[in-house]
Amino acid sequence: MLEGFVPFPPEFAKRYREKGYWHDKSLAEEFAAVFRQYADRVAFIDRGKAYTYADVDRISNGLALNLLELGLRPLDRVVVQLPNVIEFVFLYFALQKIGCIPIAALVTHGVPGTEMVAYGLDFGGPLSSTQIRAVSSYLRSLEEDAAANPLWRTPLADSNLSGRDLFNMACSRCHGTDLSGVDDVAPALGPGSESVEDSHHRLMTQIADGGDEMPRFGGVLTLEQIEMVVAYLRQVQSGG
Ligand code: HEC
Repeated sequence: MLEGFVPFPPEFAKRYREKGYWHDKSLAEEFAAVFRQYADRVAFIDRGKAYTYADVDRISNGLALNLLELGLRPLDRVVVQLPNVIEFVFLYFALQKIGCIPIAALVTHGVPGTEMVAYGLDFGGPLSSTQIRAVSSYLRSLEEDAAANPLWRTPLADSNLSGRDLFNMACSRCHGTDLSGVDDVAPALGPGSESVEDSHHRLMTQIADGGDEMPRFGGVLTLEQIEMVVAYLRQVQSGG
């Protein structure tokens, strides 16, 4: 038993074994039987490719051997940072097979004892799951091949974010949360700034097409969302 782990009360453990719920097998052993029994059935489909149980077994075996070669040992804790992709499944089973302990470090949970606090509402954080999805699709939309990936275009379209939210998420890191600009990074956009004189069209184009140092937001934000951001800029510029 791992140190610090609270064991099941013995009378519960006894009952579960008597009723046949507990087989005293590791997860890897439990899954080995499943992999054998359903070998030819499709277990997962990811990005257009199907994987049978036999595939999952074979690929995770190979990965397990590679992980051992890398120096991982039974009872090592492994923090897996992968999105919802088939590689997560392979890695999860590979870790089970060599007795490593996968730590589920999700954005919602945070990582206790580090600066990565919990973001999910259920775990005491400020964001709903819809908002977390919006943020992670936004991050994906910044990846190099994002423009070619239809799934990552205008990822915030259904997010219900206000002009102010959008500004804080997409613009404030360069222009400052109070629009007062950041030295050597980006100009001020608030009251008294040059951008007060910019036409509506100029603002829309700057945001949609970007500039020398500014990324383009056309394809990331919808046209309506860019309008909302401009309306927010105008509101702050007029002291609102
Ligand atoms: C990576 C930093 C960065 C981000 C993110 C960024 N900008 Fe910019 N922005 C700049 C820089 C640098 C300039 C100066 C000119 C240029 O490089 O295009 C600029 C210029 C502008 C201008 C023209 C200012 C003027 O005086 O005419 C506007 C308007 C603007 N940004 C709005 C936005 C909005 C709205 C967002 C978010 C949707 C945003 N920017 C996100 C860096 C950024």
